[in-house]
Amino acid sequence: MKAYRAALLRFTDDGSAVYDEDGLLLIGPGPDGRQRVRAAGSWSALSGNFPGVAVEHLPGRLLAPGFIDLHVHFPQTDVIGSPAEGLLPWLENYTFPHEARFADPAYAQGVAQIFLDELLRHGVTTPLTFATSHPASVDALMTQAQARGMRLVAGKVLQDRHSPDGVRDETEQSLVDTEALIRRWHGTDRLGYAITPRFAPSCTEAQLRGAGELASKYPDVWIQSHVAENRDEVRWARELFPEARSYLAIYDGFGLMRERAIYAHCIHFDDDDRALMRVTGAAAAVSPTSNLFLGSGFFDYEGARRVGFRYGLASDVGGGTSFSPFHTMLAAYCVGREGQTKPGVSLSPQHLWWQHTAGAAQALGLDGTIGNLQPGAEADFLVLDPKATPLLARKVANARNLDELLFSLIVLGDDRVVERVYVDGQAASPT
Ligand code: GUN
Ligand code: ZN
Repeated sequence: MKAYRAALLRFTDDGSAVYDEDGLLLIGPGPDGRQRVRAAGSWSALSGNFPGVAVEHLPGRLLAPGFIDLHVHFPQTDVIGSPAEGLLPWLENYTFPHEARFADPAYAQGVAQIFLDELLRHGVTTPLTFATSHPASVDALMTQAQARGMRLVAGKVLQDRHSPDGVRDETEQSLVDTEALIRRWHGTDRLGYAITPRFAPSCTEAQLRGAGELASKYPDVWIQSHVAENRDEVRWARELFPEARSYLAIYDGFGLMRERAIYAHCIHFDDDDRALMRVTGAAAAVSPTSNLFLGSGFFDYEGARRVGFRYGLASDVGGGTSFSPFHTMLAAYCVGREGQTKPGVSLSPQHLWWQHTAGAAQALGLDGTIGNLQPGAEADFLVLDPKATPLLARKVANARNLDELLFSLIVLGDDRVVERVYVDGQAASPT
């Protein structure tokens, strides 16, 4: 067992923070041998309870849960910053041609390495990520994540139409490949599989039907896709599936909405769509840097709160512009202001941070396992240096309360703040 003494950030189930200015985090093996939080709380209350345990004192540092990225594309690591008129030309001109390169397993393996190292450097310990349509791209990523002891969920993209040669897959084979990958990877060490129809316009009815059948055969496998991101995309989906009530309802019609289904964007929704999210237990991956970069629109936080469905934050790299959760939280704050109907109603720094940690874990159905530092949780955590830059040091010195401290980090923070990253209780070092 090992104990860390520093400021400690955790969350309650309702999304507010629990903060110990002088805290203790005790890490040790759980019954399965995996490293877990054994105790967490104030130093004064807990320090007498563990005689003989080595304590590392980290003055001025903040212990916090590892961030969760609820939607990202590992093969788009090098697509970041590719400007286009909007989503559909961006896919056609940059993304599909780039993803075609992942037919080469060696190329996929190299990018998987860089992708995971970048995530960890920025303090992200669990991503839910798309691979490409090539099954070997999943193998490459899973192998690299396994070597790092990471909890990661990923899936082979399904796209059997409206996709160019090089990324388009074949209906029946794509479903056979998906099932083989589920059997190979889902539940292996800390890895999970996500059935991954790219978006309704890129999938035939037969492919979506097959994906839905797999989703009901493997109920604890995740589902991930895109929905209602861009107005042209919404129009196209409606033309292709005229019988569906809405774009989101297409997925419901194929059995692709349930707990552990994560839909990226969810911007152009009405309240019936929001209610469908709530009753099915699906969750939204809110991707504000992507939505701003591609000019897609603004997630309606007020609508999500009113109807009450789950959501969390995501980078959506390469539509998104940064792997940094700090940049994503700042963009989410700005987006939340854009949609606000009542003056003074803005997303609080505690709630922004929750959306990228405990809230994202809830969206994945992994609350209690990751995204928080309560006893029993897996030991994925960060040591943050709130004074990592001269400007942050000045700002943080003047912070009068937790909200001011967290907001300083959200606005001025980036990878420089992330001093150490612990994965399964071990300090991660880039390969
Ligand atoms: N819709 C379908 N594919 C994609 C993708 O790769 N990125 C984004 N942002 N939207 C999509
Ligand atoms: Zn995406």
